[in-house]
Amino acid sequence: MKKLGLGVLGLGEGRSIISGALHSELWNVIQLCDLNESLGRERCHEFNLDNFTTSMDELLANKDVDVVGIYTPDHLHAEHVIKALRAGKHVICTKPFLNDLSQAREVLSAQKESGKAVMVGQSSRFFAPFARQRKHFESGVFGDIITLEAYYNADHRWFLKKGWAKTEAFKWLYGGLSHPVDLMRWYLPDIAEVMGYSSLSKNGRELGLKNDDTFQFIFKSAAGIPARVSGTYNSPVIPLQRDSNMSCILRCANGASQGDYYDLRYAWKIGEQSVVETFEDKDDYFFRFGGHSHHAGEYQNYIEYFARCLAAGEAPKPDVSEGIVTVALMQAMEEACVRGLPVKIADVLARSGLTDLLKP
Ligand SMILES: NC(=O)c1ccc[n+]([C@@H]2O[C@H](COP(=O)([O-])OP(=O)(O)OC[C@H]3O[C@@H](n4cnc5c(N)ncnc54)[C@H](O)[C@@H]3O)[C@@H](O)[C@H]2O)c1
Repeated sequence: MKKLGLGVLGLGEGRSIISGALHSELWNVIQLCDLNESLGRERCHEFNLDNFTTSMDELLANKDVDVVGIYTPDHLHAEHVIKALRAGKHVICTKPFLNDLSQAREVLSAQKESGKAVMVGQSSRFFAPFARQRKHFESGVFGDIITLEAYYNADHRWFLKKGWAKTEAFKWLYGGLSHPVDLMRWYLPDIAEVMGYSSLSKNGRELGLKNDDTFQFIFKSAAGIPARVSGTYNSPVIPLQRDSNMSCILRCANGASQGDYYDLRYAWKIGEQSVVETFEDKDDYFFRFGGHSHHAGEYQNYIEYFARCLAAGEAPKPDVSEGIVTVALMQAMEEACVRGLPVKIADVLARSGLTDLLKP
């Protein structure tokens, strides 16, 4: 398999994809790009690299770059994805794919016209406990889903040190909840309706956050399955011995399962059999720097999956359509909080001229 050449745009979280690619036999890191020159120098030193530019145009003109990994602030993703596709590059874009639907049609057209692959970097799908939960579910032993609960709670007050995190453009609803919402849609892609409440906590407001940081939502799938997603980002969390920050619980006809971020734990029960599996031995693989706040192993897993899909002529998932429908769902969630009423994802898509993305 020919190695893919990677260009990385945005070197904060972009650090994780650089690490993933450098440890992978399927990738070469070709060039790094960030507006911040001193950060560029720092990353080059950290990873022993020397090809850095402050110009996205220069990165896109580099013929050895096959794929651009986009790790810029959320509100810039649409513009950067479109630019990369028009330059003839494949794209891996971190979550949230977009933070509204205003440029969704343009992103779809750019992807179609380029014929290039776009994958949303929904990293949690590639974390050992959640990947194991998915495979186990796909084996069929649990039977049909009766209900699902997913959450992501984290004390992310440190994140507000980033300038863009205190602007109107930054929304935890997209930045944080995109993880549990994606986990839910992985199992229930036909989520049709949402209702919920949100608030801006005193902690968040005092730190200068503009939009809400505390969320509770319930959903209904087209088949009538109820589900729940919640998250909070500026308050302390429960000790890890009792909770795991991010979790996905499936309650099914024949059994139940729970994937937990900490301590890389997966628990399940079918009939009389109760099992707790852990992936603690993979701690060093997933967490390579920054304690547990960066998880480069997930990125290595998803770029290797991306490379294998390309070699097999398959579209890596979540692709551009799936990513946009998830954004539409997050927009429906936002509207439900503002209006105090249930909101249908079909109505949100219709208003943006995107009804064709809903599968019949
Ligand atoms: N689990 C995950 O998948 C995960 C985790 C953390 C962050 N993220 C995502 O990664 C993205 C970046 O977050 P972050 O924490 O690294 O933010 P950050 O502010 O630390 O980094 C963003 C970088 O992008 C650079 N940048 C902005 N515009 C640019 C441009 N036009 N050209 C080149 N560089 C540009 C900035 O200089 C900055 O260094 C966000 O979308 C965030 O949601 C994903």
